[in-house]
Amino acid sequence: MFDFGRAMMAMPMWVTGTMMRLPRSDWEWLIRVTTMCIAADDPEYQGPNGKSATLTQAHLELFSYFQDVVDHRRGHLGDDLLSVLISTRFEGRTMSPGEVISNCYSLLLGANVTTPHAPTFVMAELIGSGVLEDWARHPELNRSACEEALRWASPVNHIMRYATSDTVLRNTPVAAGDAVVVWLGGANRDERVFADPQIFDIRRRPNKHLAFGIGPHYCVGHSVGRATLSVLFEELLRSYEDFAQAGQPERLVSTFTSGYKHVPITARRRPNPAR
Ligand code: HEM
Repeated sequence: MFDFGRAMMAMPMWVTGTMMRLPRSDWEWLIRVTTMCIAADDPEYQGPNGKSATLTQAHLELFSYFQDVVDHRRGHLGDDLLSVLISTRFEGRTMSPGEVISNCYSLLLGANVTTPHAPTFVMAELIGSGVLEDWARHPELNRSACEEALRWASPVNHIMRYATSDTVLRNTPVAAGDAVVVWLGGANRDERVFADPQIFDIRRRPNKHLAFGIGPHYCVGHSVGRATLSVLFEELLRSYEDFAQAGQPERLVSTFTSGYKHVPITARRRPNPAR
């Protein structure tokens, strides 16, 4: 038995850890702390003093970790993302230490808690449906299949904004200061936009999903996320076959992220994976 969920939750560190040149020995701890930041209700991630203390502790630890890493990196600049954040000049100045650290936090968290869940949803919900076999037979559809995995999973549950002025949204008055929430999973299954939204269709085109958000805060890591998923599924389906569930998948308890923390599966290594 292989816990695909656990493996996927570790997977983004190979990308962000490498891009940011973070020591390999820190990765496991960083996966845990970033998950604590978004799943403090989950019994596997909640600390002994409850949700609020878990959130505070995880954020403090992550910020203080990056404070040390950024301090050290200033004297050891290279071609990694952190060095770029430290040394890039914008509007005549470099970023303050606090700005660099906040960006490190956003980038690591943004990647770690989202990317795993396109694949965890696929394995938890689509084994036995024929989708994986079809996908493996058609590697030329990998890109559109990954987009469909993003629509299907919608790893970020919601985004919220406060109205800056009185307005009306679809006949609903919204007053300045009101909170407005977009439920991305709901939007991504809107039958007015997506034909047969409850069907996972690797040939879906167009596929204007909102998994990466929309507008000025559209996910800054969307290209990295898309490239990661594309390589992951390409390698996975080229190298393995006969996927089967080996137990009940278990959801991560989180209001922010939608995903599975445990997905027990079995699979067979293909005798001669095509290269
Ligand atoms: C499948 C993978 C991913 C999904 C589904 C996803 C989803 C999202 C969404 C929905 C937002 C918009 C939040 C908002 O409007 O408030 C966002 C923003 C962001 N994402 Fe991602 N993301 C993914 C991968 C990544 C990766 C790989 C990185 C970093 C390398 C990243 C870093 C960020 C950052 C820093 C923001 C904030 C951008 C801003 O506020 O301008 N994300 N992401």
